[in-house]
Amino acid sequence: MTRIVVVTGGTSGIGRAIAQRFAVDRAEVFITGRHADTVEPTAKELGVHGVVCDAADPGQVASLADRVGQVDVLVNAAGGLPEAASGDGAPLDALLAQWHANLAQNLLTAVLTTAAVQDRLTGDSSVISIGSIGAERRGGSYGAAKAALAAWNASLSAELAPRGVTCNVISAGYIEGTNFFRGGLSDERHRALVEETHNKRPGTVDDIARTACFLASPGARHITGQTIHVNGGAFTTR
Ligand SMILES: NC(=O)c1ccc[n+]([C@@H]2O[C@H](COP(=O)([O-])OP(=O)(O)OC[C@H]3O[C@@H](n4cnc5c(N)ncnc54)[C@H](OP(=O)(O)O)[C@@H]3O)[C@@H](O)[C@H]2O)c1
Repeated sequence: MTRIVVVTGGTSGIGRAIAQRFAVDRAEVFITGRHADTVEPTAKELGVHGVVCDAADPGQVASLADRVGQVDVLVNAAGGLPEAASGDGAPLDALLAQWHANLAQNLLTAVLTTAAVQDRLTGDSSVISIGSIGAERRGGSYGAAKAALAAWNASLSAELAPRGVTCNVISAGYIEGTNFFRGGLSDERHRALVEETHNKRPGTVDDIARTACFLASPGARHITGQTIHVNGGAFTTR
């Protein structure tokens, strides 16, 4: 049977690569993003459905759920570093806005989208959320949001695994070929990020896409409630 796959943040970088892999695998794929001018051309290129949806907006997320019907794989890839708020407000107001924006973009996007499609998840389905090495160190409000994503995933797994749904986070290290840094990554920083890996290379979007496909495969049905680190050894676990 054709699997239905929903990838939030599927217009670029990691989400786009994941959507492409599932589409090549003959799944019926829905990608989302906040802007029609990227959602529509990307959906056309990949041969998938495109839905304009801000995953941090409850009304838009509810409409997305109505549009997709049943779901076999949900990939919560939407996220990243929010635009810095401009303005000359009080420092604490700016700090609060920055934390709210990071929590909305990197935690609440996944929480809301998953809640909206939860009743549409089939048995043997998978919820995969893209976390970050920033949850482990030096992540600030972005890392704190990604750490909360992993904590939420653990409780989601406890709730959904009895129905046969697996719930995992792929915690990505530095991945090149995305818009994450908005072109602002210096050569020096790139070298430093590669240097801290054991295999001395940046991650690729396909490293993450292949991990997502594995987590949604029959071989991964007993893996749930986990954070899977994909970072070339830049952060190690026991
Ligand atoms: N690149 C890395 O080194 C790296 C490392 C660790 C983790 N990650 C994580 O990987 C995920 C994918 O990021 P990426 O690196 O592939 O960056 P990217 O190329 O900037 O892609 C981010 C995607 O998320 C979408 N998006 C952002 N906020 C959204 C929202 N509220 N609702 C719907 N879509 C939204 C973007 O589209 P619109 O802006 O058009 O909405 C875009 O499609 C993110 O969760 C990021 O935190 C990335």
